[in-house]
Amino acid sequence: MKEQLLAIKEKALDSIENCTDIKECDAIRITFLGKKGQLTAILKQMGRLSAEERPVIGQMANEIRTEIEKTLVEKQGRLKLVQIEKKLEEEAVDVTVSLKEHKLGKAHPLTQTINEISAIFAGMGYTVVDGPEIDTVARVFDLLNAEENHPSRDPSDTFYIDDNTLLRTQTSSVQIRVMQEQKPPIAIISPGRVYRRDEVDATHSPIFHQCEGLVVDKGLTFGDLKGTLIYFAKQYYGEDMELRFRPHHFPFTEPSCEIDCQCFKCHGKGCPTCKGEGWIEILGAGMVHPNVLRNCGIDPEIYSGFAFGMGIERLTMFKHEIEDMRLLYENNLRFLSQF
Ligand code: DAH
Repeated sequence: MKEQLLAIKEKALDSIENCTDIKECDAIRITFLGKKGQLTAILKQMGRLSAEERPVIGQMANEIRTEIEKTLVEKQGRLKLVQIEKKLEEEAVDVTVSLKEHKLGKAHPLTQTINEISAIFAGMGYTVVDGPEIDTVARVFDLLNAEENHPSRDPSDTFYIDDNTLLRTQTSSVQIRVMQEQKPPIAIISPGRVYRRDEVDATHSPIFHQCEGLVVDKGLTFGDLKGTLIYFAKQYYGEDMELRFRPHHFPFTEPSCEIDCQCFKCHGKGCPTCKGEGWIEILGAGMVHPNVLRNCGIDPEIYSGFAFGMGIERLTMFKHEIEDMRLLYENNLRFLSQF
């Protein structure tokens, strides 16, 4: 019986040693120490032993039971620890990992210009309206009083889709849309893209941006036009910006003018940036031609209006001293992030 007990002890300690799972420990306990376990089975046979043998075997059996139990508890403790460590390891946050930096984007300089212009005119009570980039020959030329042989009508200058439809060459077409749709008083600006068959160079692009302005009401004069544009230029460029109004011709305005800003580099003295002029042209403007008002069903005897059109690229380049227009389209972040 002694040998049997020793064999049980050895088997039990072996199983404990090799066990890798807490649940397995319980199974081992049942196998060896449970009511129907191997050790219990031996003890049940104690009756067969002699009076001298019984206490000796009894003590031995108890010692073995205690040892198995103790070893099991220790093993369970160790396995529990391993389990916790494993869990901690799995759930660990690596504080040394650098998170990707989230860089906030910002508006493109041309969009910034459009937003600034819109804010200034909105402050004067203007509404900002949108117009389609594909429009009719009627709205881009005819109703704007453009001469039959005006060079911009030529297919070598303009992208036609068919005889009556084209990519607008100017945002002035929006003037017609607005006057066809609403009656005076009107005060709108309309920024957007325009298209011309131009070769790309430092100052030209076949796609560029303009911002149109139109005001129609009773009793408007050239003084209103001047005051509005001077106020705009000072808001946009700064209080000390001076403007120069030069007579010009546009089919849709009479009288018409071109407006120059004083050169930011030489302040009017003349330098390479302004090609010795001291001034840089930034917009065209004038009093809306009576024919244009009439074409849109507005009586020029009752109403008058003024209109203006500015180049967004020009304004942006002038403000930020950008010398090559192509930089505005190349999407080079090192360039764009400066603005
Ligand atoms: N549409 C003209 C251009 O593309 C700019 C312009 C000039 C617009 C005079 C106007 C204006 O509204 O009155 O060159």
